[in-house]
Amino acid sequence: MSPPSFLFLFLFLLSLLHGCTSLPSIGVTYFPPSTTPAAAASSSRLPAHVAETIDSLRFSYVRLPDSDPALIRAFAYTNISLLLGIPEPMVPALASNRSAALRWIYRHVLPFYPRSKISLISVGNDIFNSSPDVSPFVLPAIRNLRFALVDLGIKKIPVSTTFSFFNIITTAFPPSAAQFQQPAGDLILNPLLQFLENTNSSFLVNLYPYNMYKLNCEIPIGFALFQDHPWNFRDDIITGVRYRNLFDMMVDAVISALAVSGHENVPLIVAETGWPSAGIDTGEVDATDFYAEMYLKGLVHHLKSGLGTPLRKEGVSELYIYELFDGDLKGGSKNWGILFQNMTQKYKVDYSGAGDAEKKNFVALVVFFLVVILGRDLLSGGGIPL
Ligand SMILES: *[C@@H]1O[C@H](CO)[C@@H](O)[C@H](O)[C@H]1NC(C)=O
Ligand SMILES: *[C@@H]1O[C@H](CO)[C@@H](O)[C@H](O)[C@H]1NC(C)=O
Ligand SMILES: *[C@@H]1O[C@H](CO)[C@@H](O)[C@H](O)[C@H]1NC(C)=O
Ligand SMILES: *[C@@H]1O[C@H](CO)[C@@H](O)[C@H](O)[C@H]1NC(C)=O
Repeated sequence: MSPPSFLFLFLFLLSLLHGCTSLPSIGVTYFPPSTTPAAAASSSRLPAHVAETIDSLRFSYVRLPDSDPALIRAFAYTNISLLLGIPEPMVPALASNRSAALRWIYRHVLPFYPRSKISLISVGNDIFNSSPDVSPFVLPAIRNLRFALVDLGIKKIPVSTTFSFFNIITTAFPPSAAQFQQPAGDLILNPLLQFLENTNSSFLVNLYPYNMYKLNCEIPIGFALFQDHPWNFRDDIITGVRYRNLFDMMVDAVISALAVSGHENVPLIVAETGWPSAGIDTGEVDATDFYAEMYLKGLVHHLKSGLGTPLRKEGVSELYIYELFDGDLKGGSKNWGILFQNMTQKYKVDYSGAGDAEKKNFVALVVFFLVVILGRDLLSGGGIPL
């Protein structure tokens, strides 16, 4: 091999190595069984067993919307990071009473941290839509929790809240024209975004291409399912960017809205996404095992590619698949789960980043050998091969 092609190969491999350094972390949402009789059947699901199962699926993150202390404890024996949620009914008390915030931290964080890797706390989920009257309490609650953490010397756990794409973004077409809905944007969102930026926190959003596809019959299903096909694209007429999948388009709509409000550097976390394997009514013909598997496979493959989105090359920083088991709490009759009740997998999807880690190690090894050989060539009087 001639020296110039050597150098080219070397640079190419280096770029490969660089390309797979910041892969988004993939997690899953787990709701403990509710107290309904049907759920009692699955009471064999002990926290330790759940933690083991999630670990064996090679997820690196898990989202616990109810922050059950027994579950937080169970994850101390894994290397899995935790996104803790705070249910909406607690929010007004946490907002108006600092000692209530401190108590929450005493109960859910102090006994377990840092053995349990608590990475973030989300105050409420889609509160701005589900309970507009509670929304003025969100930022004060976030502040109180953050102050309580800092008072206790815990500076590394940021606090945020979770939005729903459809209730916070004006339009996804084209993504570059997206903005946050008013008046929530001005009154509540701007101070919140400023707080997130000041405290190195993240913007959390529930983002379902499935719902977007259902609402817009002109979207080809392949575009929502990450399928490569000559017709599966949409162009942003303003920026000229071509989108190959609906997920990127929705993510970039959020990125644009953040930029318009002056906070384009806040990291973006997808707190929920998924595809149901069965619907609740006959209108949901696309809620099938087949499409659900396609979506999850396409999504995980896309995330592992490390390509990010057209507007944010590092893409989303974390993503949580909704959800581990069917029909727990939210959307009772929907089948969003990735496991059967007997804890076996519904779909053949590899959620780990292992494939890429191996690729990275391999590339690093090749680069190492090239450097050795090239270095020897140079020393033996070959000169700079340019
Ligand atoms: C735990 O995860 C971190 C990254 O999140 C990784 O660097 C470390 O090697 C993991 N440890 C084990 C024991 O898997
Ligand atoms: C604040 O919360 C603490 C602990 O939860 C409670 O004992 C106290 O009565 C509350 N104070 C007010 C003014 O609500
Ligand atoms: C935010 O992160 C930056 C860089 O990592 C650090 O210098 C800064 O102190 C952090 N700020 C807070 C409030 O944690
Ligand atoms: C688990 O449940 C699913 C669906 O009910 C079934 O198809 C599968 O065979 C079961 N697996 C085991 C190991 O029991």
